[in-house]
Amino acid sequence: MTKIRIAIQKSGRLNEDSLKILKDCGISIDNGKDQLKASSRNFPMEVFYLRNGDIPQYLRDGVVDIAIIGENVLIEKGEDILIAEKLGFSKCKVSLAVPKSVKYNSVQDFEGKRIATSYPNTVTNYLEQKGVSADLHIINGSVEIAPNIGLADAICDIVSSGSTLFKNNLKEVEVMLTSEAVLAVSPKISDERTVLLQQLQFRIQSVLRARK
Ligand code: PRP
Ligand code: MG
Repeated sequence: MTKIRIAIQKSGRLNEDSLKILKDCGISIDNGKDQLKASSRNFPMEVFYLRNGDIPQYLRDGVVDIAIIGENVLIEKGEDILIAEKLGFSKCKVSLAVPKSVKYNSVQDFEGKRIATSYPNTVTNYLEQKGVSADLHIINGSVEIAPNIGLADAICDIVSSGSTLFKNNLKEVEVMLTSEAVLAVSPKISDERTVLLQQLQFRIQSVLRARK
């Protein structure tokens, strides 16, 4: 039997809510979070637990058919990937922040500054539009520590509750984009699996309506 292959975040903020929405859709997954792959008992679906940043490439290659992923990751790494549904959870911003002690006037202040980030494309595009050119330091995690250790003048990262900024004595000065979890679709999805996608979307839409 053909199964639809869905990627979800292996661990982190999206993982739990992604499994929850599948569950609310009546899809039970035999877990296994230690296993990187699981199957559903009652829907033709295979679940792959993957790293967030790898998911756009898996979709592009057609190794998975669909994914639950943050829109921010698609904007950074998968602008060619189609979004089938916005899912209404894991809302966050991608923002620029500077040390609290710094007096901030405008985005022009970033000219020539060192910015630590895991979102180089997003920052570059944003600053380019404003005619600003900065020096990016790409790091994969714990970005907010960079100004404190002298690695950068500013950071660009996800802001959700704001507590990581607060704890690191930073202040948000530019919101570059807002994001939420979405259902993304591989450009290579087969016709047979598109039918399964439609069945899933039908269920997701009623779950989202009920959540309102
Ligand atoms: C994420 C993100 C921010 C923080 C934002 O980091 O990179 O640092 O959460 O959330 P908040 O506004 O609610 O504090 P995460 O904890 O996933 O760790 P990492 O950056 O080291 O991957
Ligand atoms: Mg972080």
